[in-house]
Amino acid sequence: MKNKYILALDQGTTNSRAILFNQAGDIVSMAQKEFKQIYPQPGWVEHDALEIWIGQSNGVAHEAINFANIDSTQIAGIGITNQRATTVIWNRETGLPIYNAIVWQDRRTAPYCDELKARGLEASIRAKTGLTVDAYFSGSKISWILDNVEGARELANAGKLAFGTIDSWLIWNYTHGEVHVTDVSNASRTMLFNIQTLSWDQELMELMDIPASILPQVRSSSEIYGYTHESILGSPVPLCGIVGDQQAALFGQQCTRPGMVKNTYGAGCFMMMNTGVTPVISKNNLLTTIAWQIGNRVEYALEGSIFIGGAVVQWLRDGLGMISKSSEVNELAGQVKDSNGVYLVPAFAGLGAPHWNQDARGSLFGATLGTKSAHIARAALDSIAYQSADVLKAMEADAGVSISELRVDGGASVNPLLMQFQADILGTDVIRPKITETTALGAAYLAGLAVGYWKSIEDVQSQWQLDKRFSSQMSEEGSDKLLKGWHRAVKATQNWASH
Ligand code: G3P
Repeated sequence: MKNKYILALDQGTTNSRAILFNQAGDIVSMAQKEFKQIYPQPGWVEHDALEIWIGQSNGVAHEAINFANIDSTQIAGIGITNQRATTVIWNRETGLPIYNAIVWQDRRTAPYCDELKARGLEASIRAKTGLTVDAYFSGSKISWILDNVEGARELANAGKLAFGTIDSWLIWNYTHGEVHVTDVSNASRTMLFNIQTLSWDQELMELMDIPASILPQVRSSSEIYGYTHESILGSPVPLCGIVGDQQAALFGQQCTRPGMVKNTYGAGCFMMMNTGVTPVISKNNLLTTIAWQIGNRVEYALEGSIFIGGAVVQWLRDGLGMISKSSEVNELAGQVKDSNGVYLVPAFAGLGAPHWNQDARGSLFGATLGTKSAHIARAALDSIAYQSADVLKAMEADAGVSISELRVDGGASVNPLLMQFQADILGTDVIRPKITETTALGAAYLAGLAVGYWKSIEDVQSQWQLDKRFSSQMSEEGSDKLLKGWHRAVKATQNWASH
């Protein structure tokens, strides 16, 4: 019998990726393609949904299969993981999007969300959805498209439109329009899904004027939803895993027991703690979200989303021209032993968890004539660790436990200066696995479990292997002093924004 593999399609914010895994959880082949970021106005971010679909199916999925020198009959199943909340609306008859995808980072609906808050709806929306009221999520983006694209409302009322996050959009296309679904983890980022009753919430749909007919069916994260049309990959392949990308990383990191935490250092940083079968409603401005559903078992997580993580390094590169490649940041920042009292608050897109300030903007504190670019680079890396520390403290307070180790992944987790500083500032061990492609791996595991490629969670648990452990080398007094400075800087940034 030919060897079988699982294909994970990781559809992130800037890249389409396809990764083939074998039964040992090792990467067999990988393909990646960047796609266009569209910025029509300040604060607006869009993607061309057709470019995503074509780049994914004709592009990276085929490439990953070709690189491995296999054919599609050797793929036991496909798992999809995706940037969450990004909103696509398409015409069910033509299959064409009626507007560009509005990306999760897009702030155009912030005034509308402020209005909802001013009407005192925040607490009830949080109780139902686990989310803070913010332009981040899909609900207000759907309303915006229906209200602003000519003829959209009429088409929606006639049942001719479909909404989906990127997972739904890919599955719709892979099945030639036969299947319109999403999973609970993606649904829980729409601000329309009741995470207690596990259904679309009628009141919220009415509030945002969104007809039920456009919404996808919500399914578990690990089951067969349909098969790829044979014209696409050469033979029908089961589509059998869907999970939001941060939840996928939580699963890929094997944070499958309550209290286990991972932090993904991408363009943003996303920290998540598994809270088991109980949704913990945050008192500290974190989000409560569905981690995944396997069979009938639904697990929840607490999440802190930081808007600017690794993107601060891109800013040093593209905005300030301090480095020519992101990888040079370590060398530049390593030229000094610390930031020498300089703090950078990278609130370029407002502040996410736990502050949630839409108006805050980036600020630099403590610079003197002696401040060199190396200090600023160091302060930029430090800011990623400080923001993550704020989220971790909020998580500990919500969960009432002290976290003993943090599992890390994502691009910037390879940076030794950052990881050491993260451990120093937290006083908690930071541990990095051998496979840092945990997002794709998590989606692969969920797909593989659905088709019996892996038999149980225990089957995959042993595949997590340690690459490196960073332990704190700083005194508690030292880290407290640094954190105090950081908090003064965050406060000053917010004060400036409120004027
Ligand atoms: O919620 C947004 C998040 O899913 C985006 O993740 O990795 O595409 O930046 P990423």
